Amino acid sequence: MATQEVSTLAHGRHFTRFVEEMRATWAAGQDASLSERARRLLEALLRETPEDEAWSHQLLTERPTARELYRDPDYGFIQMGHFHPAHYGGTPHEHGPHWVLYGVYRGAIDISKYRRVGGGTGTGPTELEVVETVRLTPGVVMPYLPGEIHSPRAVDPEGSIVMRFLSADIDVVERYRYKPFDPASQLPETSPPTAGRYEAIFSR
Ligand SMILES: [Fe+2]
Repeated sequence: MATQEVSTLAHGRHFTRFVEEMRATWAAGQDASLSERARRLLEALLRETPEDEAWSHQLLTERPTARELYRDPDYGFIQMGHFHPAHYGGTPHEHGPHWVLYGVYRGAIDISKYRRVGGGTGTGPTELEVVETVRLTPGVVMPYLPGEIHSPRAVDPEGSIVMRFLSADIDVVERYRYKPFDPASQLPETSPPTAGRYEAIFSR
């Protein structure tokens, strides 16, 4: 489709190949292995793109908080590009029925994954425990599957280029976000939110 070719080619050769391969892997089957197949493609993009390709140069020099680089007209997946200054990151959340890939092109971010203590599923007070915290460095991608609670924190003092691949538009679905009861102790600047008591909020 001509308009797609223009929009991806403008981002550069590696990005265009990434989108072509991503479309092919979605066409091959949307089963449980899709997020892992997509992860490998995003890792290749992050490892192989030089800093002077259009998309990477743009993110490195313009440093946008969030920029939609591509939205697929057939499958609905979205590739976002971000510049995260040191300590940037929000509160624990999930992406509802959709999955997400977080990857780093330059810099480093830590992402914690959480679980509700007691396994509750409703809104209101809940306690979160940290399941794991991983550090993403350039070329590393982590998937977060439907319902998996997570939160990133940028740790590189120079800032980080983060590529987020969304399996669908999360702005149009209701999903859980977790508001800390004690933000002063639960939102440390230099690491992801801690375990503790949160308020589960279900909204768009
Ligand atoms: Fe997320």
